[in-house]
Amino acid sequence: MSPATKSAAKSAPKSVPKKAAAQAPQPKATTPPADGIHPGSLLSITQLSLEEVSNILALAERLAAEPLSKHATLLENRKLALLFYESSTRTRTSFELAAKSLGAMTTLVSDKSSSIEKGESLKDTGLTLRALGAECIILRHNASGSPYLLAKHTGLPVLNAGDGMHEHPSQALLDLRTILSRLGKKQAVTETTLDGITVCITGDILHSRVARSNALLLPRLGAKVILCGPQQLLPPEAVDLSSGITLERDFDKALQQSQVAMMLRIQKERLAGMQIDLADYQKQYQLNEDRYFKHAPNAVVMHPGPMIRGLEITADIADGPSSAIEEQVRNGLAIRMALLVRALNGGAA
Ligand code: CP
Repeated sequence: MSPATKSAAKSAPKSVPKKAAAQAPQPKATTPPADGIHPGSLLSITQLSLEEVSNILALAERLAAEPLSKHATLLENRKLALLFYESSTRTRTSFELAAKSLGAMTTLVSDKSSSIEKGESLKDTGLTLRALGAECIILRHNASGSPYLLAKHTGLPVLNAGDGMHEHPSQALLDLRTILSRLGKKQAVTETTLDGITVCITGDILHSRVARSNALLLPRLGAKVILCGPQQLLPPEAVDLSSGITLERDFDKALQQSQVAMMLRIQKERLAGMQIDLADYQKQYQLNEDRYFKHAPNAVVMHPGPMIRGLEITADIADGPSSAIEEQVRNGLAIRMALLVRALNGGAA
């Protein structure tokens, strides 16, 4: 865990006040915590207690179930900035649509079409957005730890929308919502909710913030997590993320033990000279019909996207009845609505 993660974990609220979440959060003067991180921030999945996870899931459940008109003014006229230094389809769009469905105003700042191209720093970009009235910043950045820096310098709630190879906490929450719903479990989670469940996460573990956030969260609910991939992409230190984690190079063996198979893309943009034999990778780690029906015929199939059909997963599996991939995307909308309400409500969901 990075020093920045530890600092944010320390600043996490210890408990969440129980209050009506449907009440529109109002701008209010809050006393910033000593380290300057706003309690509405979500920088790492480790900062959330299981009670807070349950509250976020419950709010997401309610917002997804009720008619749009019921929450259309919940964040009316609140100003949110989406600050994206890396490409994104799912995370950016779902945060934006979530904000708009709650009545908030959004602006998108991308590294490709802003003064970031001229060399403006993350700190100055954040301070500029704050000066323009942004009340919350949703940040995707290629540098691990950058959301901590932004949160510290602006004092605003910052939502980590993926930072380098570090974390993607909102993805872990939407994945959890998907797993619970597919396995018929309650959204109010405890340390034993996922007892007896094994989730195998397969692919480019080394570069995956999704794998890290899931590996940090799921064992806290009792799940076993198997991290699986070729030697180059499966760092031995990953086992230390949590006590419920094992490493397995043999995908068939991992699948045989799993109720959930989460596939990952090979992140070519982060390989930095590392050579991967893609034909061999496909042979050993592709989730295809033969492998699925032989080793895990009832497993829920997941993928955070973007997926490369024909490499880590075949189309018949990605589009088949066991696939929860589109459900993951839909759940992203509900989870991100809940995170925006929490962010503007001083950390209470
Ligand atoms: N899962 C995910 O983060 O997808 P995007 O890169 O499209 O946001």
